[in-house]
Amino acid sequence: MLQTLLPTIALDLSQPIDLPALKPDATEVWLEIGFGGGEHLAAQAQRRPDVLALGAEPFLNGVASALRHIEAASLTNVRLHAGDARDLLAALPTASLDRVFILFPDPWPKLRHHKRRLIQPDVVAALVRVLKPNGRLRFATDWANYADWTVERLTGAPELVWTAQKADDWRLAPQDHAPTRYEAKKLGDIAPVYLDFQRISAA
Ligand SMILES: C[S@@+](CC[C@H](N)C(=O)[O-])C[C@H]1O[C@@H](n2cnc3c(N)ncnc32)[C@H](O)[C@@H]1O
Repeated sequence: MLQTLLPTIALDLSQPIDLPALKPDATEVWLEIGFGGGEHLAAQAQRRPDVLALGAEPFLNGVASALRHIEAASLTNVRLHAGDARDLLAALPTASLDRVFILFPDPWPKLRHHKRRLIQPDVVAALVRVLKPNGRLRFATDWANYADWTVERLTGAPELVWTAQKADDWRLAPQDHAPTRYEAKKLGDIAPVYLDFQRISAA
């Protein structure tokens, strides 16, 4: 069953992605980068059937897990790229996404491994390109240094603002958050933080 489901929801990156063709009645398009087991992606897609929910994840066991969630909930609004999110970002039209989620990405806590982190200048530039004006990006981590690293790099882009007004805005899980498998493991060195950014027009 899962083998028959994947081809129907796999994104074709060999040509520019035609998002309206994937779900003509979609009110918004969201993307989750590194969805792991897919529980957050499926929960959001179930909560918002009007949204076209895209996901990218190279870990095949994670893709299989996501397919099981999609099948169990009979979701028809999810499309997956079983690979590197950077390839999917490159295939997306400019200003095409309303929301992006990057939840508990691999922290690479050792200094010499920081260059392996997902949040790098090329990814920041790609996110700025694909987000719509006023589009939103949520980044969550339970590693203090990765939180600092990300705030520094994302607010370093003139098109992105961190929307938090007070500590609870990043210390408490947002109302629309769905817990993830990695989050539940509590492997980091701090309680989780949820950093919401918005894409504005650069001055
Ligand atoms: C620590 S896990 C967290 C998974 C999930 N977001 C969660 O919170 O349970 C990080 C995930 O990011 C994925 N990942 C790493 N590099 C990636 C990339 N370039 N594009 C997409 N996903 C990536 C990994 O395969 C892994 O599943």
